[in-house]
Amino acid sequence: MTPTGLPIPHESATAHVTGAALYTDDLLSRFPNLLHAAPVLAPHAHAELTLLDPAPALRVPGVVTVLTAADVPGEADTGPVRHDEPLFPTTIQFHSQPVAWVLADSLEAAQLGAAAVLAEYRPLPAILTIEDALAASSFHNPPLAIHREDAAAALALAPHRLQGEIHIGGQEHFYLETQAALAWLDPSGAISLSVGTQHPAETQEVVARVLALPRHSVTVECQRMGGAFGGKETQANLCAAIAALGAHKTGRPVRVRLPRRLDMATTGKRHPFLARFSAGFDAAGRILALQVSLFSDGGWSLDLSEAILARALFHIDNAYFLPALEVTGRVCKTHKTSQTAFRGFGGPQGMLVIEDVLDRIARTLALPPHTVRERNFYQPGQSTHYGQPVKDADRITRIWNTLKASSNFDSRRAAVAAFNATHPHLRRGLAITPVKFGISFTATYYNQAAALVLVYRDGSVQVNHGGTEMGQGLYTKIGQIAAATLGVPLPAIRLMPTRTDKIPNSSATAASSGSDLNGAAVLDACRQIRAVLDSVAARHPARSLTFAQLADAAYRERLPLFATGFYRTPEIHHNPKTLQGRPFHYFAYAAAVAEVEIDRFTGQYRLLRADLLEDVGESLSPLIDRGQIEGGFLQGVGWLTLEELLWDAQGRLATNGASTYKLPSWAEMPAEFHCDFLPRAAEPGVVLGSKAVGEPPLMLALSVREALRDAIASLTPGPVALDSPLTPERVFFALQERPAHA
Ligand code: MTE
Ligand code: HPA
Ligand code: MOS
Repeated sequence: MTPTGLPIPHESATAHVTGAALYTDDLLSRFPNLLHAAPVLAPHAHAELTLLDPAPALRVPGVVTVLTAADVPGEADTGPVRHDEPLFPTTIQFHSQPVAWVLADSLEAAQLGAAAVLAEYRPLPAILTIEDALAASSFHNPPLAIHREDAAAALALAPHRLQGEIHIGGQEHFYLETQAALAWLDPSGAISLSVGTQHPAETQEVVARVLALPRHSVTVECQRMGGAFGGKETQANLCAAIAALGAHKTGRPVRVRLPRRLDMATTGKRHPFLARFSAGFDAAGRILALQVSLFSDGGWSLDLSEAILARALFHIDNAYFLPALEVTGRVCKTHKTSQTAFRGFGGPQGMLVIEDVLDRIARTLALPPHTVRERNFYQPGQSTHYGQPVKDADRITRIWNTLKASSNFDSRRAAVAAFNATHPHLRRGLAITPVKFGISFTATYYNQAAALVLVYRDGSVQVNHGGTEMGQGLYTKIGQIAAATLGVPLPAIRLMPTRTDKIPNSSATAASSGSDLNGAAVLDACRQIRAVLDSVAARHPARSLTFAQLADAAYRERLPLFATGFYRTPEIHHNPKTLQGRPFHYFAYAAAVAEVEIDRFTGQYRLLRADLLEDVGESLSPLIDRGQIEGGFLQGVGWLTLEELLWDAQGRLATNGASTYKLPSWAEMPAEFHCDFLPRAAEPGVVLGSKAVGEPPLMLALSVREALRDAIASLTPGPVALDSPLTPERVFFALQERPAHA
């Protein structure tokens, strides 16, 4: 039996649950001379720093030094895309922005030192909401837009029209391991770092920039992360830069780890969005024209906000053909943390809008929402608004019909209606929603990966690649690919920590493409080695050699037992201005049915049942994929129903800990939970027929939002406008607004 496709546990599962798995901040006991870092935080969302005097901190016992702009040999900026993130700002751009960092022999001393630093500010008016930013024309970039046909003209001609506005909340990543970096000087004097980063090559680039070093003098390693979810794609760089600068200045190893509240107060989140739309449709509920304006709250610096907005524009169609469309987007600049990548990368916000529009259309016409959704599905032969053919559009209907049947959707609709007709205070809602998610980085050049595979004479194997492990099971899948290709058992394979001195210039592990890209590169390297070993075997036809014997024989024949592998995604391209082209290698498809029960008098609700059907192609690792689907779905449920970020009038994050920021937990698991893979779904042109699975399941949670709306609408028919997240409070107020309660 081949190791791919086997339902094996995550390679670190036992280590995760026994505590044996080591993360960056677990390594500090290896550095006796270690320095700890604590930031000096600005108590304003927008201000001029008028005075910074570190002298009082230096009198605190244990404090060794205070890092300020004067210490930076290179460029004091960590901005990943635009260089707009000063490491030591003189204009404060968000509440709790670090202005200096104190290094001390203990964390307590560093924190006391940070409190002792004298800093004075001249407060300035702050922009704290998207509406404030619109009023002040505060934007990071010119607008992005995608056009198809003349949407305004088609809208004017449409027999039915509706318009609306949706506020979509952000989301805190709440990775269990907060941001952490450890830096030390290696024996040659070069800088080495262990960092919880999804993008070691970019962390290396930023450290090299700050220290004015060539990249060969900076090595970044990541063994694993305790969750990342996009939050460590760029935002690990600040801690890494401070640790490296501290090591450079003092010659001692430096540890930076953000305590939870500091992590929440200072690092970026999923972008809040404001969407305004006008839709034109026919009597059957088919969309004829759609105009959408999206405004995202990018926070103080650009970060990845433009690419995230572009992905929202690309996903405004979800699984639906929009014959005339004008979608524009703008990244607002506000005095908040710099919002960043988060599972789905703008796709979820775009898809929420179209699902909202379709439901409002259905309830305007008094049609079942699932019927209106079906009528708008892509048909074979149609293309997206950005010009990419949806060549496997029939998969949407296949998944939809399979799931409707397996979840007994039709009979449960009748049961829900019967329940609602009789129960005095509970109302149930049922909804089905699809997912179509584009796989590839929209920054086309990121769609490449490399590998370095080493076989030793005893038949044991080291696999290096540029992807990082954050719990998603990438190393498990890569190990399976290598074992299957080389023809060895899984224990013969060792996955090495991801290091910039093994694989240079690697892309972020993101866009769900970690195993697509790195898996294909590892496959390439393993096939080369397998070819060498097969040639050796052919010279010993009489004997059946073990893998170790073959490796040793190859060595004696003076043949190379290592190979580099490389992969670049074929045939993707798009115009960065018009966004027209073929940005995605393929689409991941899925659908979900959710059933909820709300209390019509309190707004409290429960998720009674969820049925998920995901197209994972030919699964590389079914247990891993199931974990991704269930976990992604529940993370989406959190975003859409529970997790609410609140800032006070000073721009301080009010929900800065688990006590005030409500996370999904075991209690939010659906009472009945089904999760299936679409059968017979091998994807041509992707590693061993598999499909990406990291992000798409998050958007299955839109079914829960729509089910809650269905329950609310059961009281009084007609369209229901709802902001997100749909907390019990919002459900309560939505019920109050219904005419039945007037
Ligand atoms: N799963 C776990 N357990 N932890 C994570 O941090 N990140 C998600 C997803 N699943 C994440 C996760 C995000 S945002 C992405 S892009 C993918 O994993 C990245 O990994 P992959 O490309 O290897 O699927
Ligand atoms: N997804 C995730 N991360 C990214 C992307 C993307 O499309 N582009 C650049 N970074
Ligand atoms: Mo995932 S948001 O692409 O790291």
